[in-house]
Amino acid sequence: RHGLQTKLLGRKVIHLNVTGSTNTVARQVAERGVEEGTVVLAETQSHGKGRLGRKWVAKPGSLAMSVILKPAIDPMHASSITLMAAVSVTKALRGAGLEAAIKWPNDVLVNGKKICGILTEMSAETDIVNFIILGIGVNVNNDVPLETATTMKAELSREVDRVKFTQLLLEMLEEDYLTFKEEGFTPILWSWRRYSDTLGRLVEVTYQDEVVTGVAQDVDEDGSLLVKTADGSIRKIVSGDCKHLRG
Ligand code: BTN
Repeated sequence: RHGLQTKLLGRKVIHLNVTGSTNTVARQVAERGVEEGTVVLAETQSHGKGRLGRKWVAKPGSLAMSVILKPAIDPMHASSITLMAAVSVTKALRGAGLEAAIKWPNDVLVNGKKICGILTEMSAETDIVNFIILGIGVNVNNDVPLETATTMKAELSREVDRVKFTQLLLEMLEEDYLTFKEEGFTPILWSWRRYSDTLGRLVEVTYQDEVVTGVAQDVDEDGSLLVKTADGSIRKIVSGDCKHLRG
């Protein structure tokens, strides 16, 4: 906590040694009513949650963090926060010397391998968000199967100062979150496009029971991926699993 240059995020930090899921803890804390920007960190996470019902077990040396946010937005626009977080993580990783890029919607890759996953959960009424739990898992110094995933340590060939990196990440998140609050999603989306590794590529997107193959053209104002298929039509994909096929 010492030296953290933020005003909003991380003013209150709940640091756990072992927990099931920092997202679950953060939700419980948020339901009791806690200040915006509260951060839950865990050294190890036994039942971490991933996207699409997957698991994200956080081993010692990784970063498992959940941030409680209370943006005054329509629940329909909550995915903006997830895309925003991918931008902030990418900036932080680049700040640490890595060539990070975003795979739609919000995986962060280095050298084509996953280094970070983001899972947001929300509590909302019909037209207003009560709170958003922004869950971020980064492979820092932990071991991962290096065929499909990577870590900061593996890419930089040295241990990374996890406290410093966490601070940098919170600073980047705060910068982007303030931009989002003041100027809306458009500037964030431009950053997302700039850092994207998906746009312009041939992709295979699985969503619900369907597989769409085509060239990723753009993301639209709600973060949906626009894919141009072989017949020339544009498909709008709201959420799903994206695979990069080739350059
Ligand atoms: C994914 O890529 O599937 C998303 C993984 C998200 C993992 C993080 S680790 C901190 C937070 N707590 C959780 O239970 N999940 C997120």
